[in-house]
Amino acid sequence: MSAFRDGLFQGKSVFVAGGTSGINLGIAKRFADLGAKVAVLGRNPEKAAFAAADIGHDALGLTADVRDYAALRAAMEQAAEKNGAFDVVVSGAAGNFLAPALGMSANGFKTVVDIDLIGTFNVFRGCHDLLNKPGASLIAITAGQAVNAKPLQVHACAAKAGINQMVRVLAMEWGPDVRVNGISPGPISGTEGMARLAPNTDDHDTYFERIPLKRWGEIEEVAEAAVFLSSESAAYFTGTILDCDGGSQLGDASRTSLESGLA
Ligand code: NAP
Ligand code: COA
Repeated sequence: MSAFRDGLFQGKSVFVAGGTSGINLGIAKRFADLGAKVAVLGRNPEKAAFAAADIGHDALGLTADVRDYAALRAAMEQAAEKNGAFDVVVSGAAGNFLAPALGMSANGFKTVVDIDLIGTFNVFRGCHDLLNKPGASLIAITAGQAVNAKPLQVHACAAKAGINQMVRVLAMEWGPDVRVNGISPGPISGTEGMARLAPNTDDHDTYFERIPLKRWGEIEEVAEAAVFLSSESAAYFTGTILDCDGGSQLGDASRTSLESGLA
């Protein structure tokens, strides 16, 4: 990455909920590499410790469940005490599994909505008085399921749709001091999410064929979107959901679809 961005987030305080693996860990790493003081949070203490060591730069690995407001708030206070008021907060904790609605218990549906949607409210509501204002950047990690209905994912579709609307409402309520945006990744390689949604090679081929850019995305590409949204370059962005997805949410770009016009 070009040297002109070195130190872009020097001394800034960044908190990443769900930042102990996958896409969110990649986001945390990128901010740390650009000079930020980073704290990541997940449920599993071993994962949190491993992530902090992996990020380096004296990163803090914290443990709490985003469904537990009091525990989450205590962890955020600990992070703000060490690193200073937050310049950037990312809410990316999520859970997902494939199941038909009739194969899903009420608790199965509630669990994903609690982690993704209520968890994001808890992160954003809980961090507000710990933000470095004006200029703070909040980012929710959402998904195409918010907009495009996906069978076997009624829980994630409902939860992520709620997150998109939450982003817009909070952008209205918390401007001008705080900008609130979302990133909607497409299928990202090497992640737990895609291991769950497309476990077979056949599924991968199907995915590639339908995506305009004919490949899955990389974690680092999503991290770039988070850096952009939190930088001065995005100073007039709020309430935006930025798709980082190779065009995959546009529809079916497979040869059959392109030749027939039937998506
Ligand atoms: P991942 O590796 O499973 O990351 C999930 C993170 O959230 C982990 O750090 C996990 O740590 C934490 N977490 C889960 N439940 C939590 C809870 N209740 N409280 C606190 N932390 C919790 O997932 P990923 O595939 O990288 O996905 C990351 C984000 O990107 C998610 O928001 C997902 O919906 C979104 N996304 C992913 C893709 C994709 O291709 N993977 C596509 C679109 C959107 P613990 O397990 O230790 O709690
Ligand atoms: N099919 C149907 N129901 C399922 C299921 C599946 N594959 N997996 C879990 N459930 C149900 C459980 O049966 C339970 O419902 P019940 O009490 O009526 O039996 C409910 O979901 C909660 O399960 P539990 O394992 O207690 O939840 P948890 O809070 O420990 O874990 C999950 C949350 C289920 C989302 C778990 O998969 C997780 O922690 N995921 C995080 C990682 C992840 O999903 N990453 C990808 C992000 S996109």
